[in-house]
Amino acid sequence: MTNKSTSNDSEKLPRRGFFARATAIIIGGVVGIVPAIAGILVFLDPLRRKAAAQGSIRVASLRAVPNDGKPYKFPVVASRVDAWNKFPDVPIGAVYLRRTGDREIEALNVVCPHAGCFVDFVPSRECFLCPCHNSTFALDGKINQKNSPSPRPLDSMPVEIRGEDIYVQFQNFRSGVPEKVPQT
Ligand code: FES
Repeated sequence: MTNKSTSNDSEKLPRRGFFARATAIIIGGVVGIVPAIAGILVFLDPLRRKAAAQGSIRVASLRAVPNDGKPYKFPVVASRVDAWNKFPDVPIGAVYLRRTGDREIEALNVVCPHAGCFVDFVPSRECFLCPCHNSTFALDGKINQKNSPSPRPLDSMPVEIRGEDIYVQFQNFRSGVPEKVPQT
């Protein structure tokens, strides 16, 4: 009787050992994964900060845009943050600003939505012309011709007048598609 009981106990022992080892591995894995996730978040922190840094950018003073209804081109300069470096005051694009009221400004990205060339304003035709495949756009950015190569109008961006300064929520958009899809 005593011998039988001892035999059963000895059969259970390896099973107990297996469960103990499995539990230790699971707990060890959970304990180890927490600092690993924290490390990854710290490593990716500059990328998260880059997203947070995007917003309105001062482009020009209100005085710099004449009240003649014509578009004027301005560079957009900002601090550029890549994954782990910050570069202060570098050109990140350009916009056409056009005064539509005393304190009202429209902003259009200079990049053609077809394939990414820079459009020019042609004063004699009162329109924008893309030199690459001859897309034309009206002063408000709308497509100006039938069968335009461009899949959408020029990309407008929100403008805010703060005191005497013009701020644009600058954004580049993906080219070659009919929707305005922000570039990441
Ligand atoms: S890139 Fe402008 S028309 Fe093609």
